[in-house]
Amino acid sequence: MAIGVIGLGNLGGSIVKGLIKSGYPPDQIYVYDQDESKHKAFMDMGAHPSVSSGALLFLTEVIFVCVKPSDFEKAARNFSFVEDSKALVSFVGGVKLESLTAKVHGKNVFRAMPNISSEVCESVIALTSPKTADANMKKKVIELLSKIGDVYEVEDSQIDAFTSLSGSGVAFATELIKAFYEAGLLLGLSHDNAKKVAVKVFLGASKLLSQYDFEEISKRVTTPGGTTIEGLYVLEKTGVRGAIIEAIKAGAEKASKLTS
Ligand SMILES: NC(=O)c1ccc[n+]([C@@H]2O[C@H](COP(=O)([O-])OP(=O)(O)OC[C@H]3O[C@@H](n4cnc5c(N)ncnc54)[C@H](OP(=O)(O)O)[C@@H]3O)[C@@H](O)[C@H]2O)c1
Repeated sequence: MAIGVIGLGNLGGSIVKGLIKSGYPPDQIYVYDQDESKHKAFMDMGAHPSVSSGALLFLTEVIFVCVKPSDFEKAARNFSFVEDSKALVSFVGGVKLESLTAKVHGKNVFRAMPNISSEVCESVIALTSPKTADANMKKKVIELLSKIGDVYEVEDSQIDAFTSLSGSGVAFATELIKAFYEAGLLLGLSHDNAKKVAVKVFLGASKLLSQYDFEEISKRVTTPGGTTIEGLYVLEKTGVRGAIIEAIKAGAEKASKLTS
């Protein structure tokens, strides 16, 4: 199935790279960016450049739109109608499914919110579908998105939460891991080891948490009177968890203000 990606910036680029990494045939991927100098890197990976978003729409069956919200209005003029045999998936922040389907006509117009971990096929992708969506086409879209991450079918009202928790979440998680890295440096580890250890601790904890409850893992690491509870006490006293929750809440509130 030929797929198209419009907008090859941070997100569009990460999606194309992730699809290719997942084994998707590069010659089935068509790309278009208004800045054509961005095509070359993807041509080198085997993807086809397109001369316009209109041409890309003609050549492909599923089209991913990855432009900034401020560019959406202009971009949408070139794909204001999507044939029923095709699907358009908008990754554009702040454009509700309702506004999207008012601008882009066709029964298979979806809204999705991923993150840049798409590049390493570890994305989290919230997906909202219109009632008109063809079941077969929706299945195809979900199968495609599942190649680059976990897909959550949600109501449009939950997209703001995903925007902050998982979209911006990559930046929040990066700050946390960076703090671990800096702690490693403070304790005299080399830059290289401190970074590797910080990343691996989050990776290992994430894998454990995909199998066990939070409490079980905490209990297994925390010996009464030991080193872990000493550190956990400082985290609690300094309100770290509350600060993280506040940050994610603030992101979601901002997303909601920017959404129309
Ligand atoms: N970055 C993330 O982590 C992330 C996560 C989730 C969702 N998103 C959403 O993804 C979208 C893209 O974000 P981004 O960070 O990837 O932005 P970005 O890096 O600025 O990439 C957007 C690309 O689209 C190009 N473009 C603009 N108008 C176009 C048009 N009419 N036709 C073709 N290409 C066009 C831009 O070209 P110019 O550079 O010439 O303007 C740029 O190369 C946003 O709506 C954002 O809300 C991003």
